[in-house]
Amino acid sequence: MQAKITAIGTYAPEQVIDNHYFENLIETSDEWIQSRTGIKTRHFARLNEFTSDLSEKAALNLARDYNKDLSDVDFILLATVSHDHVMPSVAAVLQHRLGIAQAGALDISAACAGFGYGVSLAKGMIESGMHRKVLVIGAEVLSKVTDFSDRTSCILFGDGAGAVLVEAAEKGNVGACIVGAEGNGGQDLYMSSQSTMINGELIKASGKIYQNGRKVFKWAVNRMTEQAKVLLDKNNLTIDDIDWFVPHSANMRIIEALCKGIGIPVEKALESISVYGNTSSASIPLALYEGIKAGKVKKGDKVMLLGFGGGLSYAGTVVEWGV
Ligand code: COA
Repeated sequence: MQAKITAIGTYAPEQVIDNHYFENLIETSDEWIQSRTGIKTRHFARLNEFTSDLSEKAALNLARDYNKDLSDVDFILLATVSHDHVMPSVAAVLQHRLGIAQAGALDISAACAGFGYGVSLAKGMIESGMHRKVLVIGAEVLSKVTDFSDRTSCILFGDGAGAVLVEAAEKGNVGACIVGAEGNGGQDLYMSSQSTMINGELIKASGKIYQNGRKVFKWAVNRMTEQAKVLLDKNNLTIDDIDWFVPHSANMRIIEALCKGIGIPVEKALESISVYGNTSSASIPLALYEGIKAGKVKKGDKVMLLGFGGGLSYAGTVVEWGV
């Protein structure tokens, strides 16, 4: 059997935050944020709204929109860096809430590459014959782990969730995947709630996201331009075969630089950065869903997904959209 993505659903909290919100907190401006990042708005969860809540709504939206029965899902893979708690996992909370009694449940920690890791793992689990129906979710409440005194990062992040259902099928639609990590860059993008060291560097134990924005920016553009080519080769494709490119929505300028490096017009990139900000593991399914909803992504289109972020880590695949 092969792995086929058969449904997608998303959810973002109701509260929309524009760039002017930050002008009261830090020295910044709507103009700076839009021109340096492409972000116009982001959604923030309420105080009593968590990653499990966003995930549940994304999964229920998926089930409603594609008329899918989730009761026989046999594994939940949930990518997040903003879990409700370290344990139990968000996946286990969700397994209970959705009443999927028999499903295995596991959180994935691969930051903005988490959704790509999830799709790759689901493909392996299905094609090995171990599982038949896997729910892959990327979900974040980054507003709860943002340092609102750090003007170089607080303007970036937002909350949201995206889910896909990966099922066993005679003919699949998930192509070859790439997954990778470069742990030597761990100190450039991290979040830790206890004092510790990464690569010999003592790091801040604030429980908030810290990043070296410029370094991550350069790494993302250089390494992901390279890895996109590796991904295309693995799938025996050239960039001209790709109908839609869905990179992690970290910054509009990163997306533009990647398109230039890879050789694809920026009009063929699907993004979620302008409306949702950087939602880490949720950004790719959010962008894909928006592209489908807008009537851009059509049946048979080849869609290249490429996530990258903390770890440092990256993961991608090419999906032949078929639902
Ligand atoms: N408002 C106004 N000015 C700001 C600002 C803000 N919110 N944040 C930073 N600045 C200032 C800086 O202090 C700097 O001023 P200086 O020249 O006087 O020192 C200037 O703007 C330029 O800073 P710089 O860091 O070079 O900006 P940049 O163009 O690299 O943009 C990021 C900063 C964070 C938006 C950008 O580096 C980025 O997006 N990096 C990747 C982050 C990321 O993707 N993280 C998650 C990975 S998945």
